[in-house]
Amino acid sequence: MLAIAILAAGKGTRMKSSLPKVLQPLGGATLLERVLKSASSLKPDRLLLIVGHQSELIKEKLIKETEIEFITQKPQNGTGHAVQQLMPILKNFEGELLVLNGDVPLLTQETLQKLIRNHRRFNAGVTLLTAKMKNPKGYGRVFTNKQDKVISIVEDLDCNEKQLENTLTNAGVYCFNWQELAKVLPQLSNQNDQNELYLTDTISKIKIAMHLEVDDPIEVSGINNRIQMAACESLLQNRLQKHWLLNGVTFIDPKSCTVSEDSIFGRDVIIEPQTHIRGKCQIGSNCKLGPGVLIENTVLGNNVRVLYSVINNAKIGDNVDIGPYTHIRPETKVLDKCKIGNFVEIKKSKLGEGTKINHLSYIGDSELGQTVNIGAGTITANYDGLKKHKTIIGDNSKTGANSVLVAPIILGKGVTVGAGSTITKDVPEGSLALSRAKQSIIKDWTAKKAND
Ligand code: UD1
Ligand code: CA
Repeated sequence: MLAIAILAAGKGTRMKSSLPKVLQPLGGATLLERVLKSASSLKPDRLLLIVGHQSELIKEKLIKETEIEFITQKPQNGTGHAVQQLMPILKNFEGELLVLNGDVPLLTQETLQKLIRNHRRFNAGVTLLTAKMKNPKGYGRVFTNKQDKVISIVEDLDCNEKQLENTLTNAGVYCFNWQELAKVLPQLSNQNDQNELYLTDTISKIKIAMHLEVDDPIEVSGINNRIQMAACESLLQNRLQKHWLLNGVTFIDPKSCTVSEDSIFGRDVIIEPQTHIRGKCQIGSNCKLGPGVLIENTVLGNNVRVLYSVINNAKIGDNVDIGPYTHIRPETKVLDKCKIGNFVEIKKSKLGEGTKINHLSYIGDSELGQTVNIGAGTITANYDGLKKHKTIIGDNSKTGANSVLVAPIILGKGVTVGAGSTITKDVPEGSLALSRAKQSIIKDWTAKKAND
């Protein structure tokens, strides 16, 4: 049997934030979501989350995660005290308890599996993850004997000068034999710098204490302040961008760009400076994105060009040209070969193949057919103050500059709307629709005015 406990009761004082630390975002997900993801991947029999500071807020965010058992730790007297709260809950439990710190967000499933495998192989009482850190400040130091068994962990603040030289650090990830841990948990004392009960003090009381050193110390970076959070963010980006650089994606200026873990890219995509790909995106081959692009939860076909634009929750076909300065909003579907240009906003609309909206338009709640040409400044007036209404425009239709289409309205196929018209009635196929005052001419008006 495997139980996993995640420690998430602390306040995170060093973050100087009104949010609890584990709800701080990192690369589009909170620290806690990241830890929960690696925990759930192990399919534990019990998943326990220890909360305390702002526990209601944390519970609210996880309301859909029904497999989580919440345990409240109040007051928060340290990591050992947090795990003591499990004593009544795991009273009859037999098996391993994996303890994870809620502020160690980059752990992988593979490392956790390796930790459990090692623990079982040596029949240990506890096995913990360690890392040789270049800058171990803030971490507990792990002391081992000649057989590489762990003798003790000393917290950074409790270390003497000699002990501080040890760079082998405690990652805050432990696989315990629960029965053995339960025996020593009541023996913890708070005789230390922080007057807390340290989980790390249980290690020296357990008979066989082993450690597993991770290959990449980055994976066990703990986050206590925003400097570490920023460092983690750039580590995460580095890791992701390296992966895509090795898989056919060009980044012109990687440092100025971010990509999300849930996005995938085809071959020969070029990502220009200041471009950010967030959420779940799927980017086809030969796309050129940027400079200055933000794309979120969107599918792009092949050969799409996007320049200085924002796209959110949309589906874009092949060979589409977007921008500069286009805003494509949720539930928009753009078919192949469309062109959407300068200062155009599109919301919840469908554009047929080869349709062009090149300048200064708002298209909302609309369905445009194939090869429609929307003239500069065309607006679909979709809102009557109470409700949103639909605009439908048939294939091969054209609107002149500054047309207003007052929805609900249907323009048939091959319709032309004269420039400057406000169209309020449906227009049948093949017609010209005009609605504007006739132009009048007063001859020699300038000269007459001068003689007045
Ligand atoms: C802890 C370890 C340290 C290790 C480091 C790795 C202890 C005593 N020290 O130090 O050896 O190198 O993590 O990142 O364990 N928490 C509670 N209840 C509490 C206190 C903390 O649930 O009463 C939670 C926090 O929310 C956090 C985690 O435990 O998620 C770790 O607490 P933190 O105070 O950050 O410990 P560190 O000082 O980083
Ligand atoms: Ca920490």
